[in-house]
Amino acid sequence: MKYSIACSAVLLISIICISSRLTNNPKPNIICIIADDVGWNDVSYHGSDQISTPNIDSLGYHGLLLKRFYTQQVCTPSRAAFLTGQYPIRLGFQGYPLALGVPKHIPKDVNTLPISLKKLGYSTHLIGKWHLGYAKKEHTPLGYGYDTHFGYWNGFMGYFNHTIGAKYTGYDLHDNYQPITNKNGQYATDLFTERALDIIKNHPRQDSLHLVISHLAGHTGKTLKTDHESELEVANVTATNEKYSFIKDTNRRKLAEIIENMDKSVGDVVEALAKRNMLENSIIVFFSDNGAPTYGMHANSGSNYPLRGIKMTMYDGGVRTPSVIYSPLLQRTGDVFNGLFHVSDWVPTLFRAAGGNIKDFGPTDGIDQWENLVNNQMLNERTELLVDIDPKFNYSAYIGYNGRYKLINHSYFSYNYTGDKGFTNPTIHYQRIKTSKTNIYIEKITNDRLTLKQTISLRNKVHLNCAPSAHEQERDEIRPCDGVCLFDLKEDPCEYRNVAAEHPEIVEYLSFKLNHLMREAKPKPPIGFDVRSDPKLCNNTWFNWLDHDGCWYNHLSNSFDNNSL
Ligand SMILES: *[C@@H]1O[C@H](CO)[C@@H](O)[C@H](O)[C@H]1NC(C)=O
Ligand SMILES: *[C@@H]1O[C@H](CO)[C@@H](O)[C@H](O)[C@H]1NC(C)=O
Ligand SMILES: *[C@@H]1O[C@H](CO)[C@@H](O)[C@H](O)[C@H]1NC(C)=O
Ligand SMILES: *[C@@H]1O[C@H](CO)[C@@H](O)[C@H](O)[C@H]1NC(C)=O
Ligand SMILES: *[C@@H]1O[C@H](CO)[C@@H](O)[C@H](O)[C@H]1NC(C)=O
Ligand SMILES: *[C@@H]1O[C@H](CO)[C@@H](O)[C@H](O)[C@H]1NC(C)=O
Repeated sequence: MKYSIACSAVLLISIICISSRLTNNPKPNIICIIADDVGWNDVSYHGSDQISTPNIDSLGYHGLLLKRFYTQQVCTPSRAAFLTGQYPIRLGFQGYPLALGVPKHIPKDVNTLPISLKKLGYSTHLIGKWHLGYAKKEHTPLGYGYDTHFGYWNGFMGYFNHTIGAKYTGYDLHDNYQPITNKNGQYATDLFTERALDIIKNHPRQDSLHLVISHLAGHTGKTLKTDHESELEVANVTATNEKYSFIKDTNRRKLAEIIENMDKSVGDVVEALAKRNMLENSIIVFFSDNGAPTYGMHANSGSNYPLRGIKMTMYDGGVRTPSVIYSPLLQRTGDVFNGLFHVSDWVPTLFRAAGGNIKDFGPTDGIDQWENLVNNQMLNERTELLVDIDPKFNYSAYIGYNGRYKLINHSYFSYNYTGDKGFTNPTIHYQRIKTSKTNIYIEKITNDRLTLKQTISLRNKVHLNCAPSAHEQERDEIRPCDGVCLFDLKEDPCEYRNVAAEHPEIVEYLSFKLNHLMREAKPKPPIGFDVRSDPKLCNNTWFNWLDHDGCWYNHLSNSFDNNSL
């Protein structure tokens, strides 16, 4: 586990090992796998075996489990931060997510991870969700550094019919700009996996690969307003009910099946990398874009237990999500990484891992934590982060004071405790890990053998200890934060107790930082639906409506542009 055999104890030898690795091999392949709306307790390494994720768990058990990984509270801002390394407030992408047919895009003068990796010689591919605008071709993934995109432009789609929208509705599965309608009826997770395997199999091995697989799982497949119309789609509902009969909530059973399918996809991707001898030189990152919407809009019965709050809130249940990293380049693995890490940090961290010079990247709010991850240490540590500033509902939050305290300035609709606790059976968990593809292929290329004892110890280490019993009573008096609240995340990770009155100086300091960023925030003008984007105008397909040849269908006969397909 701990240190790789070849580069062990002696520092000098390890320097030689690392530098020879750098000179002999191409730059590492960078594979990022993003889950949608998957909460803290929806992966099995966090303690619940209800939803079994042995492949994701194995990545972390052989790599690092990020215990303090923060995203934005909702998808669009999270994806903007992951693409650019900047806080969404700098881009006008803060707060509420992008709705259908809204002509907005990421500012074109901003650098992105795929643009900068391309400059280092990488081929760059995005599979799955985009959700950052598509009024013009240049606003889609290909306009921001990806060589190819196979997936959807809006926030989600039906798992089988690949459509989104109620009043305005249409197909949203695209291959670059070309709508794909002949895959109707095929399960989204399978389609994305198939494409990922295809890219890996055909990747010229001397080149470096940057592949982002941005899953639909575990988002609902339809526009929903309440829990009662949940649309969590699985291949066979009867079989799902039988398989997960130990879970009471039938929607959570479906979520379990959806997430297990995604986990299986992770195993297939690892297998494909291993079979092409690419795994030895890869970095694989997994994270969820925000906390689970346990109830309410797009309810998926996900669980952020034991954290407070859900998706869209500033509480940790909305923004502290599962994340793991695996790479043979990491030196001290099989452990928990305790440093504060923000989704924007992946940009400079992965750029640096690819051999890039951070100074070349341009402005970023992300912090290069590559050395921290490689050595599981906390130098050049992140100590503060902006959670977000929502200009519509006027809520915001900031974490600071050595990463210990969180200031919440006004809370949003949901602020209580929900989500399944699950149960745990370490032996079953271990058996699933051992037989997962990810574990099998990682054990093939390393000398690391996971033991039952290690998995139990890691699960204990990543477990969140909620407040001391003295605070439990306060937990019962759950109320929204109407003004300013302060939580001590170190002593009270479940945010039971507002300590604002006890620490006025910390409140003052964090308010100062937050207000400073409020002044810097790029305004977010309320741009609404553009009727010209109506899929009815384009063979019932969402299209890049502001381009002169936006609807490929209307232009097939005259100005057919092969390069754009
Ligand atoms: C697509 O599938 C979703 C989820 O099952 C369903 O709600 C929606 O009505 C379907 N749309 C079309 C156009 O068939
Ligand atoms: C769905 O699962 C049930 C129970 O396992 C099985 O009997 C049935 O044949 C399956 N249906 C389909 C269409 O595969
Ligand atoms: C948020 O603040 C703005 C500006 O002060 C105000 O116009 C708006 O009504 C507020 N929104 C809510 C939901 O309170
Ligand atoms: C949390 O709030 C929601 C919405 O107000 C409510 O339906 C639910 O019962 C509450 N749960 C708890 C545990 O208080
Ligand atoms: C809270 O947010 C409002 C804007 O909605 C801002 O005017 C106020 O200064 C903030 N308060 C603190 C303590 O940061
Ligand atoms: C229009 O969409 C249908 C499926 O909805 C598809 O069969 C047909 O090929 C599309 N037309 C064009 C020109 O792509």
